[in-house]
Amino acid sequence: MNNPRFSTVGIVGTGAMGRGIAQIAAQAGSTVLLYDTQAAAISKAQDALGAQWDKLVEKGRLEAATATAQKERLKSAAALADLSDCDFVIEAIVERLDVKKALFGELEGIVKPSAILATNTSSLSVTAIAAGLKRPEQFAGFHFFNPVPLMKVVEVIAGLKTSQETCTALFEYARQMGHTPVQAGDTPGFIVNHAGRGYGTEALRIVSEGISDFATIDRILKDQVGFKLGPFELFDLTALDVSHPVMESIYTQYYDEPRYRPSVITAQRLAGGVVGKKVGEGFYTYVDGVAQVAA
Ligand code: NAI
Repeated sequence: MNNPRFSTVGIVGTGAMGRGIAQIAAQAGSTVLLYDTQAAAISKAQDALGAQWDKLVEKGRLEAATATAQKERLKSAAALADLSDCDFVIEAIVERLDVKKALFGELEGIVKPSAILATNTSSLSVTAIAAGLKRPEQFAGFHFFNPVPLMKVVEVIAGLKTSQETCTALFEYARQMGHTPVQAGDTPGFIVNHAGRGYGTEALRIVSEGISDFATIDRILKDQVGFKLGPFELFDLTALDVSHPVMESIYTQYYDEPRYRPSVITAQRLAGGVVGKKVGEGFYTYVDGVAQVAA
């Protein structure tokens, strides 16, 4: 294994995305410091990744020594201040501009001056998050997809002041993580969510107009059009507490472009807590993570 571009990486927010990014960072050889406001989310991420690597050892697909080394590289941070030695910090916290801005303002005062900071935001402006930072040239979007280890593309997004050196470093690190980096403009939703929102909102429109039901739409788009997941399976995987605010954010940023108008269907489900697979109920009902309706 080559020396990783970043030897010590901080992950802020160790939910679905942070955990996946931690996995590929540790596999790339970095020491990974995990921080989350919910301490339980950190131990949950460490336990899940450890169990996943152990399973690969059992199946003979990973050396036991490699699994042990990867587990040892995952460390928990009790406070944000513990990320002071990081060469690179990426956040995967709640999708809110004010919260992300506050986080990076604080982080900039903690990390060393050479450190690069990045956001995994799906929809917010990288330029807006960086506004007010002392070193906006060392800040970029580094946008992964769910599930991170399997979805091999990562968007590298330069804000107005992001330097070429920062993008080059992220390109290099993405490749070391086994991913394919693509440069994307700092526009609402970047490349994938710009295209992907149309997929989701149009499917919701078909349901709200009574043309078809969600399971049929999913089946047709998989069987006939060749998508791996139907739009409603994807909503359930991403979870509506993440994807509904993303839809709202893209719609607002495009000055209320009708193509991106969010749906009352997802608004109501979000209000009712029926957000997706992670709570066992979304468009589908899940038992042990398996959808109970033939999708
Ligand atoms: P999640 O809800 O699974 O995890 C978020 C974690 O962040 C939670 O453990 C929470 O305790 C923690 N957190 C919240 N505020 C915090 C703060 N101020 N400081 C430290 N920790 C904090 O969310 P998920 O799905 O991992 O998404 C996180 C981010 O990644 C969002 O910005 C989302 O838009 C983006 N994203 C999500 C994708 C998805 O499919 N879920 C895909 C690509 C990007």
